Amino acid sequence: MLNGKKIVLGITGSIAAYKAAYLCRALIKKGADVQVVITPAGKEFITPVTLSALTHKPVVSEFFTANDGTWHSHVDLGLWADAMLIAPATAATIGKMAHGIADNMLITTYLSMKAPVFVAPAMDLDMYAHPSTQHNLELLKSYGNHIIESASGFLASQLEGKGRMEEPDTIVEILERFFAAQQQLAKKKIIITAGPTYEKLDPVRYISNYSSGKMGFALAEACAERGAEVILISGPVQQKIHHPNIQRIDVESADEMYREALRFFPEANVGILCAAVADYKPEHYAGSKLKRQNGEKMNLSLVPNPDIAAALGKLKKPEQLLVGFALETDNEFVNAQEKLKKKNLDWIVLNSLKDEGAGFQGDTNKITIIDANGNRKDFSLKSKKAVAEDIVEVISEKLNGENDHA
Ligand code: C5P
Repeated sequence: MLNGKKIVLGITGSIAAYKAAYLCRALIKKGADVQVVITPAGKEFITPVTLSALTHKPVVSEFFTANDGTWHSHVDLGLWADAMLIAPATAATIGKMAHGIADNMLITTYLSMKAPVFVAPAMDLDMYAHPSTQHNLELLKSYGNHIIESASGFLASQLEGKGRMEEPDTIVEILERFFAAQQQLAKKKIIITAGPTYEKLDPVRYISNYSSGKMGFALAEACAERGAEVILISGPVQQKIHHPNIQRIDVESADEMYREALRFFPEANVGILCAAVADYKPEHYAGSKLKRQNGEKMNLSLVPNPDIAAALGKLKKPEQLLVGFALETDNEFVNAQEKLKKKNLDWIVLNSLKDEGAGFQGDTNKITIIDANGNRKDFSLKSKKAVAEDIVEVISEKLNGENDHA
């Protein structure tokens, strides 16, 4: 998977920089084309001569070469690469990346990078555990970077703990898996509904639910990372998208979500209906703010919203796949299976509110995937990102299996 891949390898001033030579060699052995960018501190730990001998290319460190004035373009490197890997990444570099402090060639290259970026932190255990480092790593994740978590073990300081750079062979495997996954859903179009809907009562009030959109956004990222073109139709949420292959369409009401879903589904290979659509909307929208009625009871008349899943289930062509979600509080399995049948879905993802850590708002979920034949696959409690990977794995297995027979 690494054959022919162009990789910018960023090296910073950590003792683990000595492992960068092995990393470099391992990448080249797999057929990758490696360009090293090293920070001034990195050069104190490993010489550019070693690295340029391994890569057969001059190592880039400064913005220009002093003796002949050659300019090194961080912008060109950003466009050239298929991936950037910063290994080892020190606390200082991570902090600069998090805050855009572009005072060396490596950081300017990072800021210009169009390709996915992988960061393998390496530092002493206390530096790693410091809230500042952890906060910066969270910031990097929120920008869409991939953090290759540090391993635990013996550190150069003679202490033992978390902070060691992950082993070069493992880093290479992570990159290989990433590039392999990128192909899985290539040329597939996937529509995803996410978040809650707002059903307006009057200009200042609405009916809604606690859906955060986290599961739907994690699914959108997971599909895009596997090469799919994603249309994400989202109700009002605080989430952000990172991947360029995701087209986000913001809607407010179930009616708007329904319209957009119907617009995009005919062209899609897969629909994933993750949104917590309000079942009912106010029958009448009050053009001006509803007034309190002096202690009188107020009755709201509600009418049903369109069922997006059921509508797409009716439109579904044999080659299209449809995945729904069921958030149940009782009789979970039977209710979910009934929904799958009624809405003509291929799978339904069940999460029970009885399970701690599952459902709305949180960062974790615990799911069961049920197929149209009633087969069930139970998963353990995981982050919503990992849950998204599991769901997308099931979908891509089916798509790729079918492709084999096509
Ligand atoms: O609300 P219910 O439990 O029936 O939701 C099951 C599935 O149907 C979910 O995937 C949800 O996104 C979808 N749904 C929908 N439109 C609705 C209600 C639910 O797409 N109006």
